[in-house]
Amino acid sequence: MSSLQVQLNRLTLANPILVASGTFGYAREMTAFIDFTALGGIIPKTVTPQPRAGNPPPRTVETTGGMLNSIGLDNDGFDQFMAEKLPYLRDLGTAVIVNVAAKTSDEFQRMADTLNAAEGVAAVELNISCPNVSGGVDFGTNPELAANVVKIFRAAGELPVIAKLTPNVTSVVPIAQAVEEAGADAVSLVNTFQGMAIDWKRRKPILGNVLGGLSGPAIKPLALRIVWQVAQACRVPIIGVGGIQSCDDVLEFLVAGASAVQIGTASFYNPGLAGQLASELAAVVVQENLQSISELTGTLQVSR
Ligand code: SIN
Repeated sequence: MSSLQVQLNRLTLANPILVASGTFGYAREMTAFIDFTALGGIIPKTVTPQPRAGNPPPRTVETTGGMLNSIGLDNDGFDQFMAEKLPYLRDLGTAVIVNVAAKTSDEFQRMADTLNAAEGVAAVELNISCPNVSGGVDFGTNPELAANVVKIFRAAGELPVIAKLTPNVTSVVPIAQAVEEAGADAVSLVNTFQGMAIDWKRRKPILGNVLGGLSGPAIKPLALRIVWQVAQACRVPIIGVGGIQSCDDVLEFLVAGASAVQIGTASFYNPGLAGQLASELAAVVVQENLQSISELTGTLQVSR
């Protein structure tokens, strides 16, 4: 077993570096920039049961230390994804984690049945946390509803299930506990923080949808805090996401309690970064004299 391999319950990753949904397209766009086999896995843009046109422009704006997006889950729909995107993705030599969102349990059920029967899918990530669509966070802000979505996927077959949770709640812990109890193999912590940008001269919001989700280095301390809090309260493996742009950032998330991480906004300005971080992690294993990178997970020492 490689020293970078990580186990998230039923999901095995060759290394802990994933690319986050919505920041890596459907991978084809990134071919010139990265060796896909260097990654622990790819999480393509969220797919929904029906095609979605997304939100009105502007959909993104840079902010201090980050960016706001309000894409609105623009995608060509689940059937088109299965027919045209998955066949390409599954030949890339890395784990493919399909990210899905839906508005009803029946819609989740149909996708669960199809994904469990599909070839070349390593896991599903449930986007129950998009801040930019009506109904997007309904499942993810209510522990019972969040657990029910996980249960639908657990009952549909053996595909590992990851729940991507929203930070836009008083505490993520009860929701993480509910999805853990329902059988989630891992939780991704966290999706974007709701925010806004204003053009005060025009007295207008900058984003077409007024509000958007904040990502990038500005949110790293917030995401780290949530990873640490959930790690104290739950045993479910955590995938940390939020502003990671260096190997030290990755290591901070691991020490806080994450078993793996997702590189998101940083891929927009350095599309090769995720692959580079995976090789830097290999060097850390040697320098720190580790048998496995997972020895670092949850090793934060707090004295109060
Ligand atoms: C979006 O498409 O609006 C972003 C997706 C997300 O934040 O989950």
